[in-house]
Amino acid sequence: MSALIEIKDYSWRYLYTTEPAVKNLNLTVEEGVFLGVIGPNGSGKTTLAYSLNGLIPGQYHGVKEGAVYVAGTEVEEYPKGELQRSVGVVFSDPESQFTAMTVEDELVFGMENLGMSIPEIRERLEWVVDLTNLSPLLLKPPYEISGGQKQRVALAAVLAMTPRVMILDEPTSMLDPISRKRVFDVLAKLKKEQKNTIIVIEHSLENLIPLADRMAFMLNGELVLEDETRPFFTQIAMLMEKGIFPPDAMQFFHQLNLRGWYDGQLPLTVEEAAQSLRALLARTQAGGLK
Ligand SMILES: Nc1ncnc2c1ncn2[C@@H]1O[C@H](COP(=O)(O)OP(=O)(O)O)[C@@H](O)[C@H]1O
Ligand SMILES: [Mg+2]
Repeated sequence: MSALIEIKDYSWRYLYTTEPAVKNLNLTVEEGVFLGVIGPNGSGKTTLAYSLNGLIPGQYHGVKEGAVYVAGTEVEEYPKGELQRSVGVVFSDPESQFTAMTVEDELVFGMENLGMSIPEIRERLEWVVDLTNLSPLLLKPPYEISGGQKQRVALAAVLAMTPRVMILDEPTSMLDPISRKRVFDVLAKLKKEQKNTIIVIEHSLENLIPLADRMAFMLNGELVLEDETRPFFTQIAMLMEKGIFPPDAMQFFHQLNLRGWYDGQLPLTVEEAAQSLRALLARTQAGGLK
């Protein structure tokens, strides 16, 4: 059986530009995986997202090479509007996605468009409102709520449609740390339910790493590295050289590693860092460090 997403020797150059925005991408994403995508601005992350939900080549003009398959079918082969049922994208500027007069209508609108029955819409609405803590906002107009709340509404609207693949393109870029955490809390709950394949393009590594099964690093349109999260960060020296800065705790243990004071795994979470630190202290007290 083929993977849910298969990208083969794929390049895309926007019309009137000289360099491809993404080059020779090869990537496989299995169903149910949570993939974190990182890379500096201009590295091709959004182009990748557009390529997965058909905005490229549907809405943009350019030159394509290679192929992008979703559920075994080339993106271009999907009848108009069909791919968007399977691949939902939450963009970093949620405002542009809103069309309804109330938050509730905004959530219902997409489901109606998919032709869901009223009982089904009710059931999903309840589920998604609960998941994203949106009940106090349901009757408000989307333009009256805060940036963080808008992000949650945009997320909920896509979630309500339960696409097989959900892509979040810098979903927290405009948010303060507390609102950012709330968006990641929703993603954590979602991951527990394991319903969707989730691709999150995000700069906030602290939040992303604990959730990501796999990580991908893009640079200048190329996929430099893609692996399970722990092996991915064994490449920490290369990542830092190329301008990616992992969370402080990971950098700290990497430094200890370089000095020969630590030879364990790099901690992926604060809890793991605390554990590693305790183990290290125990060794120091036992006089075991040389
Ligand atoms: N609509 C467009 N027309 C022409 N070039 C574009 C367009 N969108 C993005 N690009 C270019 O494609 C490259 C990758 O951009 P993008 O995919 O937005 O990267 P990222 O999301 O990682 O910041 C950049 O060089 C950018 O200038
Ligand atoms: Mg982008």
